[in-house]
Amino acid sequence: MVPLTEISSFLAATGPDLPRAAGRLHPLVVHFPIALALVAVAAEWWRGVRRIEGMSPLTMPLLWIAAVSAIAATSTGWLNAAHEHDGSTDPTLDRHRWIGTATTVALLGMAWWGRSLCAALVHPTAEAFARLGAFRWMAAVLAVAVGVTGHLGGELVYGKGYVAKALFPPAAKPTEPPTEAPAAEPAALTPSELHFIERVQPLLEAHCIECHGSRRQRGGLRMDSREALFEGEEYEWAVIPGKSADSEVFKRVILGRDDPDAMPPEGPGLSQEEIEALRTWIDEGAVWPEGAAAAGAAAPTGGAAPAESAGSASGSGSSEGVPADVRAKAESAARTLAARGVLVQPLALESAYLDVNASRAAPPLGAADAPLLADLAPLVVNLNLSQTALGDDGLAAIGAMPLLERLRLDGTAIGDGGLAALGTLPKLESVNLVGTAVTPASVAWLRAQPALRRVYVWRTGLDTPEAIAALREGGSIDPIGGDLPLAQPTTPPMPEDAPAGDAAAQ
Ligand code: HEC
Repeated sequence: MVPLTEISSFLAATGPDLPRAAGRLHPLVVHFPIALALVAVAAEWWRGVRRIEGMSPLTMPLLWIAAVSAIAATSTGWLNAAHEHDGSTDPTLDRHRWIGTATTVALLGMAWWGRSLCAALVHPTAEAFARLGAFRWMAAVLAVAVGVTGHLGGELVYGKGYVAKALFPPAAKPTEPPTEAPAAEPAALTPSELHFIERVQPLLEAHCIECHGSRRQRGGLRMDSREALFEGEEYEWAVIPGKSADSEVFKRVILGRDDPDAMPPEGPGLSQEEIEALRTWIDEGAVWPEGAAAAGAAAPTGGAAPAESAGSASGSGSSEGVPADVRAKAESAARTLAARGVLVQPLALESAYLDVNASRAAPPLGAADAPLLADLAPLVVNLNLSQTALGDDGLAAIGAMPLLERLRLDGTAIGDGGLAALGTLPKLESVNLVGTAVTPASVAWLRAQPALRRVYVWRTGLDTPEAIAALREGGSIDPIGGDLPLAQPTTPPMPEDAPAGDAAAQ
């Protein structure tokens, strides 16, 4: 199956993502083999029980169509897994795909066997009838396999044990999810608990509980209590304490607004402050104080958080809402970097958000310095890595930069891999790639950046009429520098390079 995923990822890099689209047909296609095989089995058993002679005229046509549609269901399933669950270690996925594949092979076998059986039953002998009996038992086994495959598929979509849970709703059981010692009295909340109650819980209630609460559990996810969120095995949790980057909840809220997997699925999405609050909460261990269940109750702090959600990071000069530890880490990284000649400035007086210019560092920053940049990453709005020695690995190590608006990579060895590792930068407006190793393979990444307007492409693999046309296609990106004469200085001027006037006031 490796070749299949390889072929599909090759196609994914070169054109419209047909394999992914085909994979997404899987939920539609699977219903054909399930229904048809089960009807065929039922028809055969009906005859068996009623002692009607011979094979049902329905059986063979149904089996053949079931077998052919099962091939379609299996191949779309493999494609879907490669695209939507790539790298998943979920054992349910593995069981689902292999039992499903085996069932498809068995269906084909049954159809083949049924064909020769039909021929034998034209002039039936006792032996042919015995074979028909065996055929019916095999068909019953097949029906069970089809059912198991379907059920495992259901668990992938709705969560483990979704049928049992509906039949026997679990009593709220006291489990051991991550929390510090339960607060004896309400006054004794730790800062992490306070952060959760004041900032995280209100945003969950405002944006998520409607679909992931007591009434509905879309995608099998429920987030209105600690017990519900940390249910089952750790690899199934949508929040991995301490690891926002690995947490499905965080990954979904930072996706671009037009990504079909983005959460919440509609509306403007979370504000930067809310995203930061969520990230801090997860990275600090996803502490959920005992008894702080949501259940649609009014926000505990009088709804302070939703009111704050207006205004973008760079717009709001204040640093309210940036957790103290994030600031402290950034400040210490800034001091170390300053000694290397990296300019780290606040965007405005009293702002926690940063303008970082590493282009004049001596010696140039390299991959080893990426962890320092990673400490700044949550707060960086402008990042100038021009002329640094950072390669793709170094860029990847910086991690998510949810607030980044302007990025300069010109004069570096960065290529397609480095850009791809940045994932979605929800606020990125401009990126300078002049003189980098980026190729047209990056067009897809560039076009996937929801806020991107300007791309400086001069002296890159993107500086071809085809690549420029591809970048222009959506109408939102303006590729700059594509038609500059070769005698031009290395870097076309960028208006945003002018130092922020208010920053100088510091
Ligand atoms: C209008 C309904 C709706 C709202 C509001 C909503 N979701 Fe979802 N969510 C869904 C649906 C439907 C799915 C299942 C489809 C999918 O996986 O994309 C889902 C799936 C998910 C999953 C994947 C679950 C899994 O393990 O496969 C996560 C994580 C998630 N949502 C997080 C959130 C968060 C966080 C919020 C609030 C910021 C949110 N959702 C708000 C409808 C919603």
